[in-house]
Amino acid sequence: MSGSFEEYLGTIIREDIQVDKAMNYALTAPGKRLRPLLLLAFIQDCGFSAEHGWQCAAAIEMIHTYSLIHDDLPAMDNDDLRRGRPTVHRQFDEATAILAGDALLTKAFELIADSKYTDEEKVQLVSILSKCAGHQGMIKGQDLDLALLTRENIEIDDLSMMEYYKTGMLLTAPLLCAAVLTKHTELETQILDIGKKIGLAFQIQDDVLDYTSSEQEMGKSISDAKNQKITFYNILGLKGCTDIYTRLYNSAIRDIDLLPIGLNSVKKIILDMRNRRR
Ligand code: IPE
Ligand code: IPE
Ligand code: MG
Ligand code: MG
Ligand code: MG
Repeated sequence: MSGSFEEYLGTIIREDIQVDKAMNYALTAPGKRLRPLLLLAFIQDCGFSAEHGWQCAAAIEMIHTYSLIHDDLPAMDNDDLRRGRPTVHRQFDEATAILAGDALLTKAFELIADSKYTDEEKVQLVSILSKCAGHQGMIKGQDLDLALLTRENIEIDDLSMMEYYKTGMLLTAPLLCAAVLTKHTELETQILDIGKKIGLAFQIQDDVLDYTSSEQEMGKSISDAKNQKITFYNILGLKGCTDIYTRLYNSAIRDIDLLPIGLNSVKKIILDMRNRRR
């Protein structure tokens, strides 16, 4: 991620009380910044400056960071390590982690409301972000993730749906927002399809890496087995998973080639995602 977006991210939350410190602790930790990268690449491919996308990219990264703080809580995955650091509830306390997550989510919408975007763009961005993050998006996926813990006979389709919602929607959001900022909302259907493919592929990889990588390399707790999660890895194994996610990424790249706009930098990020080790 370019140094300047990273610097900008560190200036948004002025630290005063404990919750501000916890918000910055999580937000400025070394995440991969994939969602901002996708948004900034898309708008730059369309001739806009990266700076034009900063506020929206930061809002998405805040929502994603909130989802990680809450995902790590004892009531959910109960994890100790995130982005190479103790999780927020370990570094601070559980109540502060809940509040920091809540506040990052709210702050994302404040950022959009107070941004330099036009009123029409703001409404469209708020609509996309609230849908992708909410009870018909990421939260729905997290709900399904918990529900699957007590289910027997889990099918691939159940897992695909859960993984698309919990991870795919927030990975689709930057592409949809970029389409708003570049006035290409006519491409919504194709973008939803591309987002679905890379989102599902990304989470299947995450399931694989939970078994094949290390906490040190991932910078986060490896806990699917401990939490008795049934994932793609348990059902399809390494080769089955690798075949599926490679096919999904390749198909997304072919879809991008069919768009009437050139998205070469977006394609490059997707190629990097395909080979990721963390
Ligand atoms: C982690 O997302 C949670 C999943 C959706 C698998 P990332 O792998 O993008 O995490 P960061 O942002 O780099 O920490
Ligand atoms: C959760 O999936 C994705 C979110 C919505 C945060 P995981 O629980 O597998 O994500 P990690 O492995 O903790 O990053
Ligand atoms: Mg989880
Ligand atoms: Mg987790
Ligand atoms: Mg995981």
